Amino acid sequence: MKLFIDTADLADIETIAGWGVLQGVTTNPTLLGKVEGEADDIYRRVCELVDGPVSAEVVADARGDMIEEGKRLAAIHENIVVKLPMSAEGLSATSTLAAEGIRVNMTLVFTPPQALLAAASGAAFVSPFVGRFDDIGHDGLECLRTIVEALEPSMYDTEVITASVRGPLHVTEAARMGAHIATIPPKVFYQMLQHPLTAAGIETFTADAEARKARAAK
Ligand code: G3P
Repeated sequence: MKLFIDTADLADIETIAGWGVLQGVTTNPTLLGKVEGEADDIYRRVCELVDGPVSAEVVADARGDMIEEGKRLAAIHENIVVKLPMSAEGLSATSTLAAEGIRVNMTLVFTPPQALLAAASGAAFVSPFVGRFDDIGHDGLECLRTIVEALEPSMYDTEVITASVRGPLHVTEAARMGAHIATIPPKVFYQMLQHPLTAAGIETFTADAEARKARAAK
């Protein structure tokens, strides 16, 4: 499973890209609203930091406006993927953009039938929101499993992006289910990295290596 980062924070993207684990980035208007700067400049910088798909979301809600905004975003950089919401207008705009070779990430997907519609419209990526589905008392991971199983044998090349990830368990379970991608907030990347026994082990090994060096120097 490929790991994307779900943020528009350039410092976090640069740090975690430095681990050598990132294969893409997703953003949304809420994440963009948390950082300073002009949106197009942020997208350009993100594309410099990570060599992979970078989702940039349209805010228009009418088909024609979505297509126009999508084309404008796609022209920023070859790695930009246009993020469109699951709706009749979004599906229609996706089919037009896909026919022109522009990749679309269909977002705000909460059911397998929505995912099938996204794939049929030509979306390159579909983003089920696992955490937000959990929030309203449903089983986000079970929904993800059904979507992965439903799309796997289909004629579509659509990749499933596990979105709205709330913790390391969501990532591990998504990988076990065969999701193509998980887009992970920075906080969860740090949770994935750390374990108290790892930290304690490094401390012990360092102390033992230094003790050996000290004995050899006597
Ligand atoms: O980028 C879409 C999705 O990952 C948002 O997650 O945490 O706002 O539900 P969240």
